[in-house]
Amino acid sequence: MALESGIDGWLRYAELPADLRTKQDQYSGIIVLDGVQTSPVYTAAKELQDGLQRILGQTLKLETLFDNVAAKQPSIVVGTLDAFSRLGVDPPPEEFKPDGFYLNTQAGNGNVHIMGESESGALYGAFEFLMRLAQGNFEPVSIVDNPSALIRWVNQWDNLDGSIERGYAGPSIFFKDGEVVEDMTRISQFARLLSSIRLNAVVVNNVNANPKLFSETNLRGLQRIADTMRPWGIRIGISLYFDSPREFGGLSTADPLDPDVIAWWQDITRKIFEKVPDLVGYTIKANSEGQPGPLTYNRTLADGANMFARALQPYGDAIVLYRAFVYNHHLDESVWTNDRANAAVDYFKHLDGQFEDNVQICLKWGPIDFQVREAPSPLFANLRKTKVVIETQVAQEYLGQQSHFVYMAPLWKEILDFDMRIDGQDSAIRDIVSGSTTVLNIGSDTTWIGHHLSLSNLYAYGRMAWNPLSDPINMIEGWSRLTFSLNPTVVDTITKISMESWPTYENYSGNLGIQTLCDIIYTHYGPSPASMDGNGWGQFTRANSTSIGVDRTVATGSGNAGQYPPEVAAIFEDIEKTPDELLLWFHHVPYTHRLKSGKTVIQHFYDAHYEGAANAQTFPKRWAKLKGLIDNHRFEHVAFKLEYQAGHALVWRDSVNNFYSAKCQIPDEKNRVANYQWRIEAEDMRLSGYKIVAVTPFEAASGGKAIITESNQSPGTAMAKIPYPSGKYNIAVNYFDHMGGTSKYEISLNNQVIGKWSGNLQEKLGHDFSEYLDGHSATRITFKGVLVESGDILKVVGQPDGTELAPLDYISILPEGIVD
Ligand code: GCU
Repeated sequence: MALESGIDGWLRYAELPADLRTKQDQYSGIIVLDGVQTSPVYTAAKELQDGLQRILGQTLKLETLFDNVAAKQPSIVVGTLDAFSRLGVDPPPEEFKPDGFYLNTQAGNGNVHIMGESESGALYGAFEFLMRLAQGNFEPVSIVDNPSALIRWVNQWDNLDGSIERGYAGPSIFFKDGEVVEDMTRISQFARLLSSIRLNAVVVNNVNANPKLFSETNLRGLQRIADTMRPWGIRIGISLYFDSPREFGGLSTADPLDPDVIAWWQDITRKIFEKVPDLVGYTIKANSEGQPGPLTYNRTLADGANMFARALQPYGDAIVLYRAFVYNHHLDESVWTNDRANAAVDYFKHLDGQFEDNVQICLKWGPIDFQVREAPSPLFANLRKTKVVIETQVAQEYLGQQSHFVYMAPLWKEILDFDMRIDGQDSAIRDIVSGSTTVLNIGSDTTWIGHHLSLSNLYAYGRMAWNPLSDPINMIEGWSRLTFSLNPTVVDTITKISMESWPTYENYSGNLGIQTLCDIIYTHYGPSPASMDGNGWGQFTRANSTSIGVDRTVATGSGNAGQYPPEVAAIFEDIEKTPDELLLWFHHVPYTHRLKSGKTVIQHFYDAHYEGAANAQTFPKRWAKLKGLIDNHRFEHVAFKLEYQAGHALVWRDSVNNFYSAKCQIPDEKNRVANYQWRIEAEDMRLSGYKIVAVTPFEAASGGKAIITESNQSPGTAMAKIPYPSGKYNIAVNYFDHMGGTSKYEISLNNQVIGKWSGNLQEKLGHDFSEYLDGHSATRITFKGVLVESGDILKVVGQPDGTELAPLDYISILPEGIVD
C-alpha cells in the first residue's frame, strides 16, 4: 500500500476496488456551464475530472458546450441553476436557499446534473457526487440540499510571524516573518478541503490581532490569498486589533466615536476592499484578556461594534463578528458571587437592539472557554433582537491539543440540540443561531492538524455548520471511509474509538462539570487542578478540603442559573434536577455528596479517572489491528499518538486523583489511589549521578518526587532489585520529557538492555508543552513482554542534554493485564 502523508485529508479519491468500479457506468464527458476558469463552477468541473480519474480510472474531457450533451452521453453537467435554466433545463420545484444545490444522477440517458443555487453550490454538489463515488455509493439520487446558515466560517489564530496561537501542527500556511507567504500552494489545498465540506469563509489571522496586517505588502498578500481561495468559493475575513488607529495609524486615541478614528477605519476599510472586494467581514476581540476596546474609552461595546459595521456598510454583505468573549481576567475569587460565566450576559444583554444590522455577536458555545464540559452559554437565550453566531473550537486547546484524540461532534451536538425554552417554546440552540465559526489551527504539517484522526473534527464541523442535525456517527463513518479505507474493520474501529473519545477524555480529565482540570496558567494541556483557583482568570473550581464546585444558583451563588429562561433556570437552580454531568458547574457540594448514580462525588472522581484511563489503554490495541489495512505511514503516526495518549491518560488519572485525595483526605473505596503495588519509585532506587527533586505540582510525579542528573554533563544511573516473583511483565517507565534538550535513556535487566529511548517529544508532539517537570511533560513508555527474574537488577542510565536532566519518575513492573 502506498504511503500517504494525509495532505489530501478526506479528498484522497482512492481508486475503488475493481469489483465496485464495474458497477458504475462509464461517463463520456464533463460539461461545464461556465467557461471562466476562476469560477467555482469551473473548479467543480476540474475537480470532477480529477476525481473520476482517480476513483474510477476514467479520463474525461471538459466541454463547455451543452449542445454536445447528446453526442457525449452519459455526461456529467455542472452549472448554476440560472445556467441550466438558460438551456431549458429546469430545476426541481423544491425551494433553494443561497448556496444550495441539486444533485440528480437520474437526469435521463445516464446523465448527471449538478446544479448550484450559486457557483459555490455547484461546487458543493460536485464534491457530494465525488464523495459518494469515493465511498462506492452508486445509489441513484435526486436531492436538493440547502444550508441551514449562510455563515459557515473558520477562524485561524495565525500570527504574522508564522506562529499559531494554540497551533499544534507546525507554522502557519498564511504568514511568515511578518508577511503573507509567497507560495500559495497550501492555501489552495486548504481552500479545497474547506469547500468540500461546504464552508465558505476563513478569517485568516489571530483574534489577538496585529495591526501590521495593514501594511501595503500585507494588503497585497491578503489579495493574493483571496484570489487563491476564491475559485474554491472561499472568501476571506480578517481579525482587527481595536487600538490600530493609535498603534499603527499614529492617532492619539482609538475612541470609536472620535471622527478621526472613524475616518481612519473607513480609510483602511476602503484600502482593504480595493484589494479584496469580496471580504467577508471583520472579527473583533475587544476588552478581553487585556485587549483594548470601546470600554477603554468609556464607550459601549455596541459603539465599538457599530463603528466597524458602518465602515463595512458600503461594501455589500460584509459583516462584523463581534466576539462576546469579553471578561475581566482579574476576578477576585474571595467574593463568592464573582463568576466569569456571567460575563457575556452582563456585558451584552442590555445592548440587545443597539447593534447595526450587519453586526453579529459571536459566542463561544459555553460561558467559560471550550472546556470538556460546560453548560451552554446563557447568552444564546438573551439576545432576542441581535443575530448570534456559535463559536466552537476544532483546535483541541483544552481537549488534549491533538496529542490526545477527542472527536468533538457529539459534544457540539449536545450543545446545538440544547433547548433553551425561550418563552416556554422549543428553542434549540441550532435554531437560535444564524451561523457558526470555529477556531481552527491547521498548520503546514502534512497532517494539517497534527493528528490524522483529529482532522475528523474539521470535517464534522463543516457538515454541522451546513446541517446541525448531522449525525456524529454517520459523519465519522463517512469520513473514515474517505480518509482511510472502505474496509468495514477500519471504519468500525475508527468510529468506535471516536465515539468513545470524548467521554473517555472527560473521565480522565475533569468530571461532573468541574471543567478540564488542566494547567490554565501555562499551556492548557496536562493536569494541574490547583491552577484553576487562586488567580484572576475565573475558571474556578472553588475546591477546599471539604467541598467543591461553583455555586451558580440564584439562591446562594453567583446567579448564573438565573441567566437562563425560567424552565431551564429551574433545572439548574435545583441540585436535585441538575444532571450529574453539570453538578459541579452549578453547585458547590461536599465531596461526600451523593450523585444520582448513588456514588459520592469523590468516589465518582476516582472511578471515572480509572475508567477513562483504562479505556484509553484500549485505543492503541484496537488501532493495532488495522496494521496492513491502511497505509503504514498514517498507521504508525496514529499508533504513536494513541500509545502516547494512553500513557498520558495515566498521568492524568494519578494527578487528579492524588490531588483530590490529598485535599479532602477521603480514601478511594477501592484502595487504588496512591497505592501502587507494582511501582518502583525512582527516588527509592540506588542512585549515582542522579539526585532527588520535588516536583511542582506535587501530583504530577508519583510520590511527589523525581530524579534528575546532578549535572547536564554526565549520565546518571538508578538501580533497584526486582522485588516481584519471576515471570513475564510489561515494564513501563514514567519520565519527564520537556523542552530544552533531548535526554537519552537506556533500561536494562542484569546489564541486558531491554530498551532505549530519547526525550524528543518536543519534535513529535507538535506543541510547546512544557519547560518543566510537570503534568505536561510527564510521559510513559512501555516495553512489553519482558522476562524478569525475581532479584534481577533493574538499571536505568539517563544521559542529560541541555536543560533536560534525564528526569525519571518511576518504573512499573506490570503483570499481563494490569495497568498502573
Ligand atoms: C482562550 C485562549 C486564548 C485565546 C482566547 C480567545 O483564552 O487560551 O489563546 O486568545 O481564548 O478566544 O480569544
